[in-house]
Amino acid sequence: MQYMKLFRQLVGVMAGVLVLASCQSTTVQHLQNDARSQTPLPDIVTVQGKHAFLVDGKPFLILGAQTNNSANYPAMLDKVWPVVAQMHANTLGIPVAWEQIEPVEGQFDFSYLDALIEQAAARDIKIVLLWFATWKNNAPHFAPPWVKLDNQRFPRVVTKDNRVLNSLSPHGQQTLAADKKAFVRLMTYLRDHDPKHQVVMVQVQNEVGTYGSKRDFSEAAETLFNQPVPEALLKHYQKPAGNWPQVFGDNADEYFHAWSIGRYVNEIATAGKAVKNLPMNVNVALRNPFNPGTGYSMGGPTDNVIDLWKVAAPSIDMISPDIYFRDYKTATRVLELYSRKDNPLFVAEIGNDQPYARYFFSTLGQQGIGFAPFGMDYTDYANFPLGAKVVNDDTIAPFAEIYRLMSSWASVWATLSLEKETWGVAEPRDSATDKAVWNAKVSEQTSDIPSAYQQTLDLGRWNAEVSYGRPMFWIDPPTGNDPASGGALIAKLAQDEYLITALRARVTLTPSDEIHGQPYMIERVEEGHFDVNGNWVFERVWNGDQTDWGLNFTSQPHILKVKMATYKQ
Ligand code: DGJ
Repeated sequence: MQYMKLFRQLVGVMAGVLVLASCQSTTVQHLQNDARSQTPLPDIVTVQGKHAFLVDGKPFLILGAQTNNSANYPAMLDKVWPVVAQMHANTLGIPVAWEQIEPVEGQFDFSYLDALIEQAAARDIKIVLLWFATWKNNAPHFAPPWVKLDNQRFPRVVTKDNRVLNSLSPHGQQTLAADKKAFVRLMTYLRDHDPKHQVVMVQVQNEVGTYGSKRDFSEAAETLFNQPVPEALLKHYQKPAGNWPQVFGDNADEYFHAWSIGRYVNEIATAGKAVKNLPMNVNVALRNPFNPGTGYSMGGPTDNVIDLWKVAAPSIDMISPDIYFRDYKTATRVLELYSRKDNPLFVAEIGNDQPYARYFFSTLGQQGIGFAPFGMDYTDYANFPLGAKVVNDDTIAPFAEIYRLMSSWASVWATLSLEKETWGVAEPRDSATDKAVWNAKVSEQTSDIPSAYQQTLDLGRWNAEVSYGRPMFWIDPPTGNDPASGGALIAKLAQDEYLITALRARVTLTPSDEIHGQPYMIERVEEGHFDVNGNWVFERVWNGDQTDWGLNFTSQPHILKVKMATYKQ
């Protein structure tokens, strides 16, 4: 396999036989499944709880950008591609709306996708297509009028006190049938018109759930609510049989709604995958992991119901957080919660303001397969205070510098992330100015601010101290960057050998307790880069000032291979 070759070239070891066997069988199977095309289908592989997203048969790291909501028309694409290029992104997340492909029931129009796929292919940009249909942030705004205006055929959620909300009920059988039919047509179009798989993933719906009620209280919903909880859920939660309130008590309303939406989405995804077996995800309107309250979108895969969603929707490969918490503590907690052995971490959306960019490093530290700031286009919209006030060169720059650092060796990193131990951290201290923005505008997003300007990572025989805001020369203590913007990535290549890159950080390796007391030194620090085939290309050795004060990374991209050593006195 090409990516295994690349990996061995990098580290020169024969480890990972198990991985090779597992990934080979997956790829062979997908080649067979995809008789129409020479190009293997995109796929997710999981080996011992670690994941990789395979594109063209090898690990792929999504350096993504997501457009604003209404950029899904051919006339807008000229305002999208320049931002993608400026960012050094390799993937674009962009909607396809039910209202645009089936404006009249049974009449389909895929001209937008013709334009999108052709233009993406010309630029070698992969697409994550976002299916805006029954749910787009709780509401059916992107459903065609024949759906969203017909409350008899396509019923909405009814509250306990009998109000009708603008959120479609997951119990509407005709809604499910109509959405599924349109989605299957979309996947059929992709099967027949995208043989090279420019579209590498499909997001099924957008931020499913309902604001303003824990569930649907309509008559149809009440009947189901009083029926036995499905066996699979009882088994998972190890509960005796009963109806929803009997089994889940205070959580019954929310769990029932999450289950109902999860099953609905799963049915759509399953039908779509039967036509073209692309990886599929759902994105999440998060609740605050520290102060959840009750005002969040109920029924979506918030952190309290990830397990339930995993049972409800096995055809969904990934539950992907949309991160609009600016502060380090909350953003980092979300990344931890959504990175699981059964859930590859893909940050489907993150705010496009400067403070969020550094969480790219934390995402990779959680074995993330991708990252996509939201609202990255010149269609003249900005979602401040969630994101930046405007989209311009200054907005794009913090993301562009990170993607520029990674783009030539993104596949190498994705391979290491699957096969090896990796670490990634972002600067922990939030900038005072940004803290003021989110305290003033988004009151629930408060949390403790870590005071440290450095972190210590346990690499096994060595510790890595990552510190921010110090001069390159001398021991001055760290004072943090202003604004907070540093981050570091480390991968273990072999015993005592690490690949390290960072921005605006000093990385210092010291012996851990395992080898404490032994004399040690840096044996060699090579600076280099990876060529198009993933081969390491040596440039120079760092020594003297360049290593005496730790490894000091600036705003310029540097990739180092670091060999540590102990020696006998
Ligand atoms: C999250 C949604 O998923 C996006 O489509 C968008 O509406 C943002 N919120 C807000 O700009």
